[in-house]
Parts: sequence; C-alpha cells; structure tokens
Amino acid sequence: MAYVPKILAFAGSLRSASFNKKLVQVAAAGARAAGADVTYVDLRDLPMPIYDEDLETQDGLPTNARKFKDLLLAHQGLLIAAPEYNSSITAVLKNAIDWASRPAPGEAPLGCFDKKVCALMAASPGALGGLRGLVTVRSILGNIKVLVLPDQVAVLKAHEAFNPDGTMKDANQQASLEQLGNSVATMLKKLNA
Ligand SMILES: Cc1cc2nc3c(=O)[nH]c(=O)nc-3n(C[C@H](O)[C@H](O)[C@H](O)COP(=O)(O)O)c2cc1C
Repeated sequence: MAYVPKILAFAGSLRSASFNKKLVQVAAAGARAAGADVTYVDLRDLPMPIYDEDLETQDGLPTNARKFKDLLLAHQGLLIAAPEYNSSITAVLKNAIDWASRPAPGEAPLGCFDKKVCALMAASPGALGGLRGLVTVRSILGNIKVLVLPDQVAVLKAHEAFNPDGTMKDANQQASLEQLGNSVATMLKKLNA
C-alpha cells in the first residue's frame, strides 16, 4: 500500500480568534491535497501547567502533555504556525515543547521530535509578520532533532489577510502556504519511498 504521511498541525497560540490557527489550517489543506493525513490540534484543548521539574519528579508528565507527546509520536510531519511575542517564541509553544521533550522511562531521548519533518509559518498584525520569532522557533526545533524545511511564510497585517472562510485574500500567499503543506508531505514521501 502507498505510504500516507501523517502530519500534525498546530499553532503556538491559545486565542480563539488566533490568526496563526487560521494560517496553519491553510497549510494543512495543502498537505491534504498532496495526499497527507493531517491532524489539527488546538493547544487550548490541551492546557498544561508551566513546566516545573518538581512537578515532573512528583507526578510525571501531566495528562495533556502526555497527550501532546503521543500526538507527536504518532505523526512524522509537523506544520507549526508560531506567533511572535516580543520578537520570540510564545510561552505556550515553548512550554508544550519543553514538556514533550522530557523522556519518560524507557523512551528514547527526544523521540517525539527526532527526524520529524517540519514547516514553519507565522502571522502577525505587525509589519514583519512574526518573522523574528521564527528564527528562535527554527533554532529550538533544529536543536531537538527536527528537520525544519528552509521555506517558511510570514504573513504581515494578519488582521487584513484572511477571507471569512479562512482562506487568504492574497492568492500568492494562499499558494505559498499550501505549498508549505505540500513540501512536508512530499519530503516525507521521498524519505519513506
Ligand atoms: C505579549 C505580546 C507580545 C507581542 N509581541 C509581538 C512581537 O514582538 N512582534 C509581533 O509582530 N507581534 C507581537 N505581538 C502581537 C501578536 O502578533 C498578535 O497578538 C497576534 O495576533 C498573535 O497571534 P494569534 O493571532 O495567532 O494569537 C505581541 C502580542 C503579545 C500579546
């Protein structure tokens, strides 16, 4: 049977009207069109405490951190829309990564990140579209063994960028985002050929 890439899509925002949640869905549609099986997860549905090593020592991984880690383990690809807070990664995204990075007994170190293929994107009402934050996110993911693809998309003036149905007003931007999803699916197919 033909290999079907499994891709996990999520945004580093909790906000219900998050631009980045919309953005990652556009890329997810591109991945689905390329034959991938995409799971979207909203981090608001997986609230996690701030990482605390004492808490981990006492209770192990919190339930939702375990759920997030299991989702990562079950997928080979990642589509991440990362909002920029103060020129960097958001706390919610870093916190989810920190919890997932902790090895449970018997698990390979960084096993849920190792060899994952990832594409990054960002949306911001500002003039740089969250581009500075992506530098940090790329660096973190690269250091925990994720293969982050070179292409990325940053959407500036995000409050003006979306149609009511969630697509992009700018056809080129729509195509670039769909292509991000396509590139993760295509790379995974090549790696698993
Ligand atoms: C604490 C905080 C810091 C922010 N810093 C930046 C920033 O450095 N650069 C930027 O472009 N936008 C910044 N913003 C604005 C966010 O880009 C904006 O809130 C955006 O809508 C967040 O993404 P979301 O819509 O996916 O939640 C900041 C917002 C907050 C709340």
